[in-house]
Amino acid sequence: SVDVSTFTRQTGYTALDYGFVNTAATRSAVTYIDGDQGVLRYRGYPIDQIATNSTYLEVAWLLIYGELPTADQLGEFDERIRRHTLVHEDLKRIFSALPHTAHPMSVLSSAVSALSTYYESETDPNNPEFVELNTIRMLAKLPVIAAYAHKKSIGQAFLYPDNNLGFVDNFLKLNFGVMSEPYEVDPVMSRALERLLILHEDHEQNASTSTVRLVGSTGANQFSSISAGINALYGPLHGGANEAVLEMLGRIRDSGEGVQRFVERVKNKEDGVKLMGFGHRVYKNYDPRAKLVKESADEVLQALGVSDPLLDLAKELEEIALNDDYFRERRLYPNVDFYTGVIYKAMGFPTRMFTVLFAIGRLPGWLAHWREASQDPQAKIGRPQQLYVGAGERNYPGVS
Ligand code: ACO
Repeated sequence: SVDVSTFTRQTGYTALDYGFVNTAATRSAVTYIDGDQGVLRYRGYPIDQIATNSTYLEVAWLLIYGELPTADQLGEFDERIRRHTLVHEDLKRIFSALPHTAHPMSVLSSAVSALSTYYESETDPNNPEFVELNTIRMLAKLPVIAAYAHKKSIGQAFLYPDNNLGFVDNFLKLNFGVMSEPYEVDPVMSRALERLLILHEDHEQNASTSTVRLVGSTGANQFSSISAGINALYGPLHGGANEAVLEMLGRIRDSGEGVQRFVERVKNKEDGVKLMGFGHRVYKNYDPRAKLVKESADEVLQALGVSDPLLDLAKELEEIALNDDYFRERRLYPNVDFYTGVIYKAMGFPTRMFTVLFAIGRLPGWLAHWREASQDPQAKIGRPQQLYVGAGERNYPGVS
């Protein structure tokens, strides 16, 4: 590997790398990926072991602090998060200012951005106590804000968090509970959602995490950086793909064109149509997360007593694509987003909430990377170069 800034200084050359395909912007000790082998590890632990044995908060601790927590550390972490779940009553008015048709991802990023205004005297990124406090605040409040974005979109009243419940159960109650009616958390749904969130917790320098690091590199606080990350995640080529997959499956079903014909249109790049939930910048093999999600899909739908023809359609699409030269030559496999939507749908989440769920999943990774970058003595403000291709010097009309 080459230190490009030294290379640039010494040689005067600038590397042009659209999409940063071959440019490392940092060293990182959080997550390891081997895209050719389909390997993913959080702090050295294989993703399948983590997904089977861990909890969302345990993984959050691991990512943020570097090691698995002791039982006492985890208990205290959980307790602190439960104590910070309330959002200021005034902040809730942000939700009424936005149209009920607003996409929950826009609502989420706006509310997270607004969150920093409540803590302005405590956001100095160089104060470790504030960094710690805001890490807890983000973990505690993002799910609450996310659930309010959901409630807003369906016109229901917001519930207060129930701090007798654990992280995922509380989130489910905030989404599906109704004011003054008892709500029983379904343990199958709770564990299934927790597993999906864990699978999303980090993925090294993806677009949203790189955005969080870039914004953080300017000295911006955690709230502002993470709000920017949420906006980066929104796009259909990144986290928004989970929503786009379900829409695609619905369109294929409703149009009656058939899976084979749809795949032909993808291969011919008709109207830029893509097989959403397929392909990845780093994985040139089956995404290990997609493998785990696919295994869960049948299990969860069955346990929830849901049968969804869209799951069969997704499997048919995958089968056809994996046996087709177009996808084989380009090494395009299902990514994490391909099967998640079918499960979220079975749980009762509307399609527009899917990327919001991804954001809750990814939050610990964003926090871990923001902290890693802010503690890196070699870190600098992120500032890419360009190759200028515009007009040469010319006079403004009338000036000679
Ligand atoms: N469907 C059809 N063709 C595809 C797809 C796809 N999903 N993905 C890539 N290709 C094709 C490209 O058209 C290109 O073909 P060409 O060589 O004939 O021009 C070739 O495969 C290489 O693709 P690139 O776009 O260069 O790959 P890149 O690494 O830049 O993009 C990306 C990766 C954005 C994920 C892409 O595969 C994609 O758009 N997939 C669909 C959206 C999606 O599922 N995104 C979620 C990614 S995972 C995540 O963020 C959680």
